Amino acid sequence: MLRLLFILGIFGCLACASSTDRPIIGVLSLPTKSQYGRSYIAASYVKFLEAAGARVAPIKYTDSFETITNLFSSLNGVLFTGGGDELNGTYFAVEQLLFKLVLDANNRGEHVPLWGTCLGFEAISMIVAGGDIRTFCDAENISMALEMEPTARNSRLFGGLTDTEYRTLSQKPVTLNNHQWCLKTDTFASSSLAEFFTLLSTNADRAGMRFVSSMEGKKYPIFAVQWHPEKNPYEWLEDSAIVHSDESVGAVGSLARTFVREARQNGHHFATLDAEWQSLIWNYSPVYTGKTHSDFEQTYFFA
Ligand SMILES: *[C@@H]1O[C@H](CO)[C@@H](O)[C@H](O)[C@H]1NC(C)=O
Ligand SMILES: *[C@@H]1O[C@H](CO)[C@@H](O)[C@H](O)[C@H]1NC(C)=O
Repeated sequence: MLRLLFILGIFGCLACASSTDRPIIGVLSLPTKSQYGRSYIAASYVKFLEAAGARVAPIKYTDSFETITNLFSSLNGVLFTGGGDELNGTYFAVEQLLFKLVLDANNRGEHVPLWGTCLGFEAISMIVAGGDIRTFCDAENISMALEMEPTARNSRLFGGLTDTEYRTLSQKPVTLNNHQWCLKTDTFASSSLAEFFTLLSTNADRAGMRFVSSMEGKKYPIFAVQWHPEKNPYEWLEDSAIVHSDESVGAVGSLARTFVREARQNGHHFATLDAEWQSLIWNYSPVYTGKTHSDFEQTYFFA
């Protein structure tokens, strides 16, 4: 009887606050030399998450590892955005820290998901592979249909899509690629990446080089896409291949919901309501950068 109570106690505690309907996702800021601040987050990633029922807390890459580690313990998920960075300085070191914190949390039984888009996809690949495994390629400003692997339809990432949404992503050229580095499918297959990730979709660059466009962790709730789901609804750069069709907006919105659903599955929360308020991105006002032909209509900057 005592032993039964003890076992119930352990599982009871694991189950306590193991989910939330008030998820807060940490989005990592990127270095910038802008007049407005030292780091930035494109507002499209924030809106992408907000439209799916989450709030966003910026993780400033300029903060100390200690501050970031403390903040992480209150967050329900983490997102690495796209952008331009050499992935050899402080920003990448912070991504490595956050990646480790995500693995540690999941190993403790706390289901904390991580999402990487474009540069975020590349960073996650490099962390798992333990080196720079990218190949130069020709895939900027091009929208394509995802060439799905047989595993995709029942995956965590794409399994929640309706048949119509799945057909949109897999048959219509709606996923914007905007990168000059590719993770070749050959590289994926012959590295530790194939053990860590399930390959979900591939594409070919303008020269026919096949690269990984979507993948998810086998054991961990880690999702990485080389393309830009946040751009269909929220970015309007003129002279761009971004598709704004109704069906594309619906399909990418469903993917955001899938990620936020994963983030609802842990009970991380701030110690106080005041600490929560202080953390949220609503303490900052985005700048209308689209007026100056930026890739981003609105951008958050941090001192
Ligand atoms: C990162 O790589 C770039 C390009 O190769 C180089 O110019 C820069 O000095 C490197 N930065 C660090 C911190 O090593
Ligand atoms: C981007 O692609 C679109 C669609 O193919 C094209 O109309 C546009 O001119 C391209 N923009 C640039 C800067 O190449």
